[in-house]
Amino acid sequence: MSRNAEAVAALIRSRADSEPVRLGLILGSGLGHLAGAVEGVAIPYAELPGFPHAGVSGHNANLVVGTLEGVRVAVFGGREHYYEKGRADAMRLPLEVLRALGADTVIATNAAGSLQADMPTGELMLLSDHINFSGLNPLIGEPTDARFVPMTAAYDPDIRAGLRDAAAAEGVTLHEGVYAWYSGPSFETPAEIRAIRILGGDAVGMSTVPEVILARFLGLRVAAISTITNMAAGLGTESISHEHTKAMAPRGAAKLERVLRRYLQKTECVVALGSTLPR
Ligand code: HPA
Repeated sequence: MSRNAEAVAALIRSRADSEPVRLGLILGSGLGHLAGAVEGVAIPYAELPGFPHAGVSGHNANLVVGTLEGVRVAVFGGREHYYEKGRADAMRLPLEVLRALGADTVIATNAAGSLQADMPTGELMLLSDHINFSGLNPLIGEPTDARFVPMTAAYDPDIRAGLRDAAAAEGVTLHEGVYAWYSGPSFETPAEIRAIRILGGDAVGMSTVPEVILARFLGLRVAAISTITNMAAGLGTESISHEHTKAMAPRGAAKLERVLRRYLQKTECVVALGSTLPR
């Protein structure tokens, strides 16, 4: 853990309180309202040294530390994407801080395009795995042997089962599939989407994968859910644009909130008891 992360964590504790955080939540485009559901303290990224600027519209650059459904959470209202400054490791410090605050789990959310006809706009997809279609890696330059992170079960099977149960209990369809990371910021061509389909991708987006690699590097358990905001390029009649993404994200966001809340209600004890990280 970097000294900077410890210092930022201490700053956050002084602004919120010193109770350990159990779980981190990273919010994708148009999903920011979840941060407002947390009872706690909102700290602008700009007041946290080294935090990214998260300058994409539709993202809210606050860290909210508090309680959601009785679970201590840290909600990252925005992320920095690779395409903003060409830094694949832009979310390293926030994830290190999450770990330093005591969390052992992170759930990432994102907006994504669908490659599956039966998974249209407004649906949710639980990530079972990913394809790093960009070829970039946030651990390039990391000098220690810890950089050789196994990614075989990167998306935690137990958390996925818990999220599936939570969705079923809420009567929400939770698709499951493989997310392909495209660097952006331009959207994919139809030919790229056909290639991703052949490779086994079910959804495509411009985030999450670098964070998942970093989170596994830091020993965090990981899950991720996509909100489908459009059919991927060439597969639908919708226009594909960032405006469209922001406009469509709320269609899935309400369902996503229900699933996450139910998950937190049901797993509070498991998360609390299973947390073995040093505080
Ligand atoms: N491609 C990449 N990123 C996205 C898309 C898409 O179709 N929709 C929302 N984010």
